[in-house]
Amino acid sequence: MCGIVGFVGTEQAAPILLDGLERLEYRGYDSAGIAVLSEKNGLQVRKSKGRLKVLKALVDGGRTMDGVLGVGHTRWATHGEPNDINSHPHLSQDSHIAVVHNGIIENYMEIKEFLLSQGVEFRSETDTEVVAQLLAYYYRLSGDLMGSVYRVLHRIEGAYALGILCSDLPDAFIAARKDAPLLLGYGEGCNFIASDVTAVIKHTRDVSYMEDGEVAVVRADGIQVYNAMGQPVEKTHSFIDWDVSAAEKGGYEHFMFKEIMEQPEAVRKTISPRIKEGRICFEELKMTPEEIREIGKIFIVACGSSYHVGMVGKYNLERLLRRPVDIMLASEFRYADPLVDEDTLVIVISQSGETLDSMAALREARKLGARILSIVNVVGSSIARESDDVLYTWAGPEIAVATTKAYSTQLIVLDMLGMYFAEVLGTIDRGNYDAIVSELQALPYKMEEVLENKETIQYLASRYFNHDSVFYIGRNLDFALGLESSLKLKEISYVHSEAYASGELKHGTISLIEDGTLVVALGTYVPLFDKAMSNIVEVKARGADIVALTTDSKKEEMRKTVENVLTVPDTHIILEPSLGIIPMQLFAYYVALQRGCDIDKPRNLAKSVTVE
Ligand code: G6P
Repeated sequence: MCGIVGFVGTEQAAPILLDGLERLEYRGYDSAGIAVLSEKNGLQVRKSKGRLKVLKALVDGGRTMDGVLGVGHTRWATHGEPNDINSHPHLSQDSHIAVVHNGIIENYMEIKEFLLSQGVEFRSETDTEVVAQLLAYYYRLSGDLMGSVYRVLHRIEGAYALGILCSDLPDAFIAARKDAPLLLGYGEGCNFIASDVTAVIKHTRDVSYMEDGEVAVVRADGIQVYNAMGQPVEKTHSFIDWDVSAAEKGGYEHFMFKEIMEQPEAVRKTISPRIKEGRICFEELKMTPEEIREIGKIFIVACGSSYHVGMVGKYNLERLLRRPVDIMLASEFRYADPLVDEDTLVIVISQSGETLDSMAALREARKLGARILSIVNVVGSSIARESDDVLYTWAGPEIAVATTKAYSTQLIVLDMLGMYFAEVLGTIDRGNYDAIVSELQALPYKMEEVLENKETIQYLASRYFNHDSVFYIGRNLDFALGLESSLKLKEISYVHSEAYASGELKHGTISLIEDGTLVVALGTYVPLFDKAMSNIVEVKARGADIVALTTDSKKEEMRKTVENVLTVPDTHIILEPSLGIIPMQLFAYYVALQRGCDIDKPRNLAKSVTVE
């Protein structure tokens, strides 16, 4: 949540900061601001409620702000409503210090009270302002800026990525990090900080990731990093090898649509390097076969769509491994006193690798002695770095807030991991193993086939977009698929929707079914097709409008009962959700389009959720 960017070089900073913020807007978009320092005009701050375009207009694309050094911020409000005053950057009372912040300062009230008692006047309701005010307070007392930064960092509690400008430091800005992402970008004659690599990729591919407790002084000719004790640190550099165009819309109206269309390629990139001579191999996995055999129990933790990947994983892993697989929302796991010990493998799934609840769950699991394996998309992210093993999903940058290609690649990695473990444990026979591997290789082509049928889905969306409430029903893997399908619809179209295991309908939900209620019936899990049909008949009898999804082999049977039938090719049963999700993503997309919603940036949401 919230995006930070900082630049120092020889070019005018403001346009570069605005460009960087545009790429970070997915992290929060209720307000934005920039601070620039120049010899002529000193410390200038411009900020505004609303989308970045409002700020851009205010500063004429950055042209009205001179200076080659600055920091910028795009906000997802935590403390204080989104308005001009609560927007970042925040200034100290004497206007010599400007701060941008991602995270939450948990003890801000206590610090604020202290500063108020010292006569400091506050302008905003934010937690961030205490950082600017406290820094100015210590600096006034000591005259030592870096010493004061360390004092502030020792005093504040919570999570932060900070960018700090001080009018007494005309050629540098300061950055600090704890439990919120922040990277350093090394350009030619210029340097950067950013919450995410997309903000700097246009200028440099040479980056390093700040560690918790580190402080950086960023100048045009170099970046000096210090550890929590103030000792200089040598950073390891990483090279970002993906193309700038990967983070651009490339002619599509929305990132979400582009990312839906990119799924076959993303899945191909995730699968191909991991199948060699018909066998699944994870060269990056440090876990030995002995260690795999010693796993007593698997626990999956994640949030949002990543949690829904885990739901599919629970069914598939238990089926493949004949071992208990537990799954819990990361936000619940950390406070649940979970039954996890040294024999447990905890699988953390996260696109961003920065979700605070997932990160906290990971640390809790580690404390309990578990081994941690994470499935992550963003290379070098916090969750990836704190795991014993990390399997990357290679989906490329995902910009739309509602995940699509990251979900699909996570699902594939988890299925393949299950297969890999099953081979080691001897819980899968050769015939079944070969059949799944062959279907994995065919999957990208089958996904392309599904995407070709998008007009049918668009037509159904135009027919049903104005329904107020939608129920997704399905059994087993179709139930897990329904959870994600329902989340997709509600998050981007604001239509109320719920997913139910079909067998549960009779225990309550069926009372909500009446004439014209839209039910999306998922019938891709062929072993329970007949049971699914019985539930479809039940809701039909109560007047529901039904859109059904099934496989090619079952479509004729489905058509006998349901008029609107969407189909996906048949594949191995455990892989069917990877095909089934595509029409459901498209349905949500087209419904949201019909309703005129802001598809890539749905209200109240953010892509990277770094608050509890
Ligand atoms: C946010 C995003 C979701 C995502 C969830 C978990 O809510 O909008 O798309 O599934 O966070 O994020 P993660 O990065 O941990 O997968």
